[in-house]
Amino acid sequence: MINKSDFKLLIVKTEKDVFKEAAKIVCNEIKKKPNLVFGLATGKTMKPFYKELIYHYKKHHFDFSRVKTFNLDEYYPISGKSRNSFRYFMEKNFFRHVNIKEENIHFLSGNTKDYEKECKNYERMIKEEGGIDLQVLGIGVNGHIGFNEPNSSFQSLTRMVKLSKSTIKQNSKYFFNENFPKYALTMGIKTIMNSKKIILIAVGKKKSVAIKKTLSGKISRKIPASILRRHKNVEFIISSDVASDLKLSI
Ligand code: F6R
Repeated sequence: MINKSDFKLLIVKTEKDVFKEAAKIVCNEIKKKPNLVFGLATGKTMKPFYKELIYHYKKHHFDFSRVKTFNLDEYYPISGKSRNSFRYFMEKNFFRHVNIKEENIHFLSGNTKDYEKECKNYERMIKEEGGIDLQVLGIGVNGHIGFNEPNSSFQSLTRMVKLSKSTIKQNSKYFFNENFPKYALTMGIKTIMNSKKIILIAVGKKKSVAIKKTLSGKISRKIPASILRRHKNVEFIISSDVASDLKLSI
């Protein structure tokens, strides 16, 4: 049984409603703080969410010029120019369509030799910007957030991780002309939990088990996203198909 009073959970009818609601929250936060430090994710779920933000930019002249971004993760090793990289994904699906300034974009480099230094620098840069104000998350079918796979430490900071079989299976579908990397650089769970506000979005029946385990039962390293229930300002926005297995007490 899920006790909805423990956290904010918004269940909306359609997938489109999820992206609309999430984009509304983002725009409100940017209105309150135009130089918002915005944590970003990639993946299939994020594409239509970025489309909504682009819509606000194009139709309502919404201003992203002072927003600073930090992406959660990047494959390792990979070139930022590779069409399979998350850097490329962001350029194609968001950055090039809005007025975010190049100098305000922060990314983990997937082709650095000194990945430890890269990860430490990323933590330092986030701190120097005053921390992440708003982090948007998707969720893996195994409950991962960023590339924090099951059994990641809740104390983890930005680091290199080995990708799980489940993630390789899910993500290699979208990979072409390159061997799928076995590793990634990712913000840690502690890095994510340090964000002032978090929204997690999930759509599609395939995510229903991960969401059920995230929102009910024990908070456990087996389901990394379950730790989000301890965050003071987290909101889960999911479509009705994801929610169909949840037993809610309001
Ligand atoms: C990627 C990331 C991942 C994805 C998750 C869901 O930057 O943070 O945790 O959010 O793997 O991906 P999709 O939306 O492709 O199912």
